[in-house]
Amino acid sequence: MISKSPTLNLTPEILSIEGETSFAYLSKAREVHERKGIPIYSFGIGQPDFPTPKHIVEAAKKALDEGFTGYTETAGIPELRRAIADYLNERYHGEVLPEEIIVTPGAKNAIYLALASYVTEGDEVIIVEPSYYAYAMVVKMRRGKPIFASADFVPGRGFIIDTDKILDKITSKTKAIVINNPHNPTGSIFSPSQIDGLVEIAREKGILLVSDEIYDNFVFHGQFKSLLEYEDWRDTSIVINGFSKTFSMTGWRLGYLVARKEAIPRLTSLAVTMYSCAASFVQKAGVTALKGDCTPVREMIQEFRERAQLLHDELSKIPGFESYLPHGAFYLYPRIVNLLKMTGMSTEQFVNYLLEEKGVVVLPGSAFPDKAGINHVRFSFATSKDVIRKGAELIREAVEELINK
Ligand SMILES: Cc1ncc(COP(=O)(O)O)c(C=O)c1O
Repeated sequence: MISKSPTLNLTPEILSIEGETSFAYLSKAREVHERKGIPIYSFGIGQPDFPTPKHIVEAAKKALDEGFTGYTETAGIPELRRAIADYLNERYHGEVLPEEIIVTPGAKNAIYLALASYVTEGDEVIIVEPSYYAYAMVVKMRRGKPIFASADFVPGRGFIIDTDKILDKITSKTKAIVINNPHNPTGSIFSPSQIDGLVEIAREKGILLVSDEIYDNFVFHGQFKSLLEYEDWRDTSIVINGFSKTFSMTGWRLGYLVARKEAIPRLTSLAVTMYSCAASFVQKAGVTALKGDCTPVREMIQEFRERAQLLHDELSKIPGFESYLPHGAFYLYPRIVNLLKMTGMSTEQFVNYLLEEKGVVVLPGSAFPDKAGINHVRFSFATSKDVIRKGAELIREAVEELINK
């Protein structure tokens, strides 16, 4: 990438950024489908396979028809900021104010705003791994240092956070701890006592907690505790959330960030420089999403709960797969270390074999920084029960072929 003209050289920071692996697998799968003509069974991408509920679509159409198509205030239309505050307060029994919210085009922009606003050169940011890739990318863009603290895999149960491990990573340079709960890629929910432990560390050490809670509606088992449930959240935390998953609105690009009121104008200055505002008519639809009929969301969550059980049951039948029942989000991240030993393959080789030979898309654990997941694969069960059954059957076939080779 080094150009003959130094003025065209990209910065080291931008050269350190990698893309999102799940998007790369979308094009790989299309390529295999076109080259081999085989059907694809995808557990790849993390987006609900449900249409956006009709009343939300209608609200966007109405806004367009009424000519609500210009720029809006950068932090979001007051109506939406109010609706988000009401929604959060009802769920988490807090007193979030509209002025403590900034609306963003997707949660990804909220992640960027949060980390870019607080992390500077030399800062260390502890990221619980395996992790959603974007956190480390933004930290690197800011010349900060991602410090990964691995969650522990407990066979039969999923992943847990050991707060002692986090404490071990703290230095005088630690600026923030980033968590995501319910968790992509593992489908685990970190328990209230694990979250209490993190909050305690943040309070005692004066470290910022950034919590990405975009899957907060996808809770099938166990208990989810939002950072907004702590009375002093303003002193310790920034919370990120969005509409993509809960309301099946990935392509609409609507998310938000909650932070103490004093921070919002500065974050808004960065936001106006980047994108001016989230799309106006999409924001109107967001109000309807929060205030309107929640039956479609409830039905979708029920379907995901059933799929979580089905996928776990199916994967439990496959030799070398250590499955567990996902408690939240829509992912399962089984360990396959025994299978890798039996076949002599790496996770990536196994994933490529599944795609090339069976048309089944799963993501290698390494797509989720840093190294805690190298012996795991990620399944998104944002796909039909038929695909889950057929896909799992094909994987079982592949595993038996490989073991008996
Ligand atoms: C943990 C997590 N945060 C953020 C996002 C991005 O959300 P959005 O579509 O709102 O940008 C995703 C999407 O997969 C995610 O898994």
